[in-house]
Amino acid sequence: MAGAKNSALKLMAAAVLAPGCHTLRNVPRIADVTLMAELLERMGARVTRGADEPDVVTIEVPDVMVPEAPYDLVEKMRASIVVLGPLLARFGEARVSVPGGDDFGHRPIDMHLRALEELGATFTTSHGVIEGRAERLLGTRILLEYPSVGATENLLMAAVTAKGTTVIDNAAREPEIEDLAAFLVGMGADVSGAGGSTITIEGVERLHPVEHTVVPDRIEAATYLAAVGLAGGSIAIEGARADHMKMLLDKLGAMGLRVDDGGDRLWVTAPERPGRLTSVDVATLPYPGVATDYKPLLVALLSVADGVGILTENVFAGRFRYIPELVRMGADIRVEGHHAVVRGVEALSGAPVRAPDIRAGAALVVAGLAAEGETLVADAHHVARGYQDLVGNLARLGADVALVPGVGGA
Ligand code: UD1
Repeated sequence: MAGAKNSALKLMAAAVLAPGCHTLRNVPRIADVTLMAELLERMGARVTRGADEPDVVTIEVPDVMVPEAPYDLVEKMRASIVVLGPLLARFGEARVSVPGGDDFGHRPIDMHLRALEELGATFTTSHGVIEGRAERLLGTRILLEYPSVGATENLLMAAVTAKGTTVIDNAAREPEIEDLAAFLVGMGADVSGAGGSTITIEGVERLHPVEHTVVPDRIEAATYLAAVGLAGGSIAIEGARADHMKMLLDKLGAMGLRVDDGGDRLWVTAPERPGRLTSVDVATLPYPGVATDYKPLLVALLSVADGVGILTENVFAGRFRYIPELVRMGADIRVEGHHAVVRGVEALSGAPVRAPDIRAGAALVVAGLAAEGETLVADAHHVARGYQDLVGNLARLGADVALVPGVGGA
């Protein structure tokens, strides 16, 4: 299992907090990591991948940096916004372009800004750039109105060198937040409670560089679980953490997929053919609920399961853009508000489709494994943003899948 995209990007941003040479292990070889490296380099850092160990990334953070995330990078990768907290903490100023809409619709950053204001930062926005300033951040108690992953991360990174104690109530609890806290503690920060709803941070004067291994990617693991559910057979997913995916594994178990926790790997077995998976209802929720990022995979599984399943999206409004693509492949899905009603069909049929984003793109690829005939997924560059060699791994597992150069950015 590669390291988690959603952790690696934040750890790279957090490195800005301490000058010196940081080492990250298990960093996925994906386009978004390359973009984050480019962002850090534009700010003055030096980011290198090991020639012999390509999963190892070193980040040399200088004493002086340009505290700025320009539009061309923020536009390509919304996660760039997580440099805001560390830049304010280290330099007392930050300029970050306002992220636009993306394929999930409008994603505001109001909670990030409000929380940082409570620590003493001030913001002005003009010409599409948010400019933040802070003489010295001061610890305080902050209640997030929603456990936003990004807001929790920005706040955590800003608070580690703030004066006094910061308490984040209703914090996001995702494993990637725990990983970020562990990274910060490795740098000398005093953080407790990460992984729970209340995180306490005692500000420290100074942080130092660190060596850290990125937590395995639970969304990538889920993608291979879905591949088995769709294509049949049995595989071991090395490095996958069952404890990070409990609710999802419960749902997949209820559908009839057998998943055994082998400690440092998951064994997954599909029902013997002609047996089918059974439909279930699923609602996405912040962690430890079923993650919204799993949803396209679940919809793909439900589209060939026996019965009717209702998927309710509670995290992002309008995250259903891949559904018309699955319908083109013969799925029977009706969207009503934030619910998708999926009536399982016997089989999907291959068709040309378009990947609207990272996870939906991967779901269309694994749906193609279960479809009769050929499926051509255009805009495959979305998949490369978040997956290290999805196509190669599926091919090694026996799937008939290949990247077609020149088709939609593949
Ligand atoms: C992160 C993940 C993304 C995942 C999501 C939820 C990264 C790079 N991305 O995104 O893959 O789907 O968590 O698990 O780690 N919101 C506001 N105001 C804010 C912040 C968020 O209204 O200031 C809303 C969002 O529009 C959304 C919800 O809160 O409806 C959840 O967003 P959040 O948890 O912040 O997700 P991200 O950090 O953007």
